[in-house]
Amino acid sequence: MEHMEHECDDGSAARCDVCGLVPLVPGLKAATQVVARSAAMQAVLKRAARFAVNDASVVILGETGTGKEVVARILHANSTRARRPFVAVNVAALPAELLESELFGHGKGAFTGAATARAGLFEAANGGTLFLDEIGEMPLPLQAKILRALQDGEVRRVGENRAFAVDVRILCATHRNLAGRVQDGQFRQDLYYRLKVLTLEVPPLRERRDDILPLARRFLGQERTSAGAFSPSARKRLLAYPWPGNVRELQNVVKHGAALATGEEVRDEDLPEELTQAKPTSRGPLTTLAEVEREHILRVLDACGGSQADAARVLAIGRNTLWRKLRTMGTPAAGGGRS
Ligand SMILES: Nc1ncnc2c1ncn2[C@@H]1O[C@H](COP(=O)(O)OP(=O)(O)OP(=O)(O)O)[C@@H](O)[C@H]1O
Ligand SMILES: [Mg+2]
Repeated sequence: MEHMEHECDDGSAARCDVCGLVPLVPGLKAATQVVARSAAMQAVLKRAARFAVNDASVVILGETGTGKEVVARILHANSTRARRPFVAVNVAALPAELLESELFGHGKGAFTGAATARAGLFEAANGGTLFLDEIGEMPLPLQAKILRALQDGEVRRVGENRAFAVDVRILCATHRNLAGRVQDGQFRQDLYYRLKVLTLEVPPLRERRDDILPLARRFLGQERTSAGAFSPSARKRLLAYPWPGNVRELQNVVKHGAALATGEEVRDEDLPEELTQAKPTSRGPLTTLAEVEREHILRVLDACGGSQADAARVLAIGRNTLWRKLRTMGTPAAGGGRS
């Protein structure tokens, strides 16, 4: 399928035929090119392409390290605001008072230490995009101020009365369930609706395994190392690992492998322990209980030479139960009677 073959990283800043985006992300040190080989990630980029040209706020959801900031930068780089600033602020990284003057600026003498007046990030982002990372951690009093700034299109510096008109597009990201925070009273409902006009969900890496090796190769190419590739066994490990820390974890694992590799390939022993402790086969993609049960039953049945009576004994379940399970599983074994 043409769509599956595509990778948004041909090294040019040209618009990509499949997702319609310029896949080059300016302002990122390491990964300037976005890897999106999996159908899931390509679907995200296609959605992003439609959102980029719109001026509405976008909430970007996804687990830690999935690439939420990358997606935010793509949205900006593909918007009519691309030539204006992209300003990112991590809401969780600053205490509330500091965050307020960081966002809105402050007047001269607004507080001890404020020797000169200073513009805030809203003003700095004027005409461009303000990316509020970890929006779920935004303190409630500040949420009210942000809502007012968005509604009025103006900000007031801390300790000053005059207002500055600002025109910013807001993008925000969170690994939290924002709707849940609203229900718990930790996030204002009015701000929530104001922000989540459009939402983009970046899937975890374990749900887009087709991206693992292209990303790993990209990251390896950015390291100074003798190795230019991964050994077949190392590739298996990379593919089998569940990646709780997603793309960022993969990036660190590749750094680890690149640092330890001595030959032309990154091998098993160059990878961190958590990847090599388990056998590659025992750490497959996360599946449902029903799938695990099905696989186990078929394995036991096979080991018992196809005898359902023996298999039922090994499984410690009744023969009728086994027969019923096989029938709902739709296996041919259930069709041949109860022998
Ligand atoms: N599709 C991709 N192609 C290339 N690099 C990527 C891709 N996705 C993520 N990365 C890289 O992985 C790292 C993590 O991405 P990013 O910071 O966007 O994740 P995040 O979801 O914002 O993480 P957190 O929740 O921890 O803030 C970055 O170094 C980024 O450049
Ligand atoms: Mg981030």
